[in-house]
Amino acid sequence: MATTVLIGAQWGDEGKGKIIDVLTEGVDWVVRAQGGNNAGHTVEVGEERFVLHLVPSGILHEGKRCVIGNGVVIDPVALVEEIQGIVERGFPVRGRLFISDRAHVVFPYHRMLDAQGEARRAKGEQIGTTQRGIGPTYSDKAARFGLRMADLRDPAFPELLRARVAEKNRVLEAVGAPVVDAEEVLASTKKALETLCPLVCDTIPMLHQALANGESILFEGAQGIMLDIDFGTYPFVTSSNACSGGAATGSGVPPNRMDRVVGVLKAYTTRVGEGPFPTELFDAQGEELRRAGREFGATTGRPRRCGWFDAVVARHAVMTCGVDEWALTKLDVLDGFDTLRLCVAYELDGRRIDYFPANIREVERCVPIYEDWPGWPADSTRGATRFEDLPAAARRYIARIEELTATPVGILSVGPRRSETIFREAAP
Ligand code: IMP
Repeated sequence: MATTVLIGAQWGDEGKGKIIDVLTEGVDWVVRAQGGNNAGHTVEVGEERFVLHLVPSGILHEGKRCVIGNGVVIDPVALVEEIQGIVERGFPVRGRLFISDRAHVVFPYHRMLDAQGEARRAKGEQIGTTQRGIGPTYSDKAARFGLRMADLRDPAFPELLRARVAEKNRVLEAVGAPVVDAEEVLASTKKALETLCPLVCDTIPMLHQALANGESILFEGAQGIMLDIDFGTYPFVTSSNACSGGAATGSGVPPNRMDRVVGVLKAYTTRVGEGPFPTELFDAQGEELRRAGREFGATTGRPRRCGWFDAVVARHAVMTCGVDEWALTKLDVLDGFDTLRLCVAYELDGRRIDYFPANIREVERCVPIYEDWPGWPADSTRGATRFEDLPAAARRYIARIEELTATPVGILSVGPRRSETIFREAAP
């Protein structure tokens, strides 16, 4: 397959980092097309653990080339720090990492406005953002007030920035927040540009040339469909399109060049930040999932909310993203549970529904309808290298997920390492 789009099919943190890392073996290019350093993709290479926020994880593979596409919002100072960390650990970026000149830039005032916006929201309306300035940067993009990487290299940049800082300071002052010093922002950005400038280019012809050369591309999705600005639990979402369509708008590779969509699903469900989550568990089983799955945010360290697998959410991902196959992750975390619950539909105000409502207040009233499936408490999925090696109950659990979502599970992850992955040759 020349192009593969990988998306998160829940609320982010599905274990995309590891699946991307494994799929990278077979591709030439890895492209990020949306989000920013709100993402945290964890990859284990040998005994080493990497958490990448902006740089595509393909950078950890020799010879692979990586693009940060136009749909990504870039905090230049954070990106330089990340690049330095990668280089120090032995992975060169020159000639391998390319940054779109159309990507919008996150400035300190965006981060401050993010924090302010959260603090000023009424109780119950806070989103629980990562406070990386993502929402305010995409707001400026939509309001046509943003600055892009191309602007940073322009001689007019100091004036463009000063005008923006003056405007944002008026807003910050009005809410009683500390203001930003334009000259300090200029200095830190210019310093970051020493590292970034040689990597900035028009990545659109570059990717099209790659396709024309017969090279393959993996689009590395960030966040997940339920955090998508259009299809997620609005307003408790991020500010970009985490759906498969975002891979096209965020890279300049059009939809008719996308060959396959892989949806990454955790074998249960988690969410960080606020917002409705129908299958959330508030009991000892939720605690157990958090403990066994080490469910703490890769970017903010916050404990993740945990719950059972939700087929309504997975079907929503299939519809909105055109998922061809699943990568089912963290199956090993379910080792030890006596009974597993699968949410097959919701009950809303006494009615059974099998779709995800748009109205957030309705979502809050949705009560999951569960099927109970036997677990494999005496058995383990760890160490399995073939589907047939999995406990019979685990295979039944997977088959039921396939049935409920009408989509095959092609890849299974039973541990954090590259080697702990099962590829199913003949997915049903
Ligand atoms: P923002 O993207 O920082 O504006 O945060 C908006 C919502 O998306 C919050 O609930 C965050 O916790 C969530 N979020 C953003 N990025 C990620 C991610 O990469 N994984 C999981 N949740 C995320």
